[in-house]
Amino acid sequence: MHNAITIIRDEHRSIASVLKGLLDHIAKVRAGTEEADFALFTAMFDYIEAVPEKVHHPKENDYLFRLLRQRDPEAAAILDVLEAQHEEGGELLEALRRKLGAWRDGGSFEAFDQALTAYAEFTWDHMGKEENLVIPRAEKSLTLDDWDVINTAFAANRGSAW
Ligand SMILES: [Fe+2]
Repeated sequence: MHNAITIIRDEHRSIASVLKGLLDHIAKVRAGTEEADFALFTAMFDYIEAVPEKVHHPKENDYLFRLLRQRDPEAAAILDVLEAQHEEGGELLEALRRKLGAWRDGGSFEAFDQALTAYAEFTWDHMGKEENLVIPRAEKSLTLDDWDVINTAFAANRGSAW
């Protein structure tokens, strides 16, 4: 197992637990058993913006996906989808912040609730595609030199934000 794969899977698990925390809280708010904790939502969105959006996805694009495109041209179709989803994820996060603000200011709870659930499903599906479709292809076709480059890039995550 290459270090970068372990790190990517760990980072995906961290993202998944943040999403689970958000969904657990919104479910309790929906059920009326907890007061909405707007600071919690904001802190979790700040985390997603600071780490997955600014560190994790760009490293996938710039190292893993870039080298895989060179070694396995047939991977282009799935990598195009995933890179587009990296862009879309940033837009969805901005939309979530707007919907959170609207709800807090007296607007629709349902709009935020639905957008949050859709965002979690979008992100889980995205990470599943990376783990089930991209990593196996990368393990087959990348060279040891490629992995050195990718491992170094991902290991650098560990010292700072992660
Ligand atoms: Fe990704």
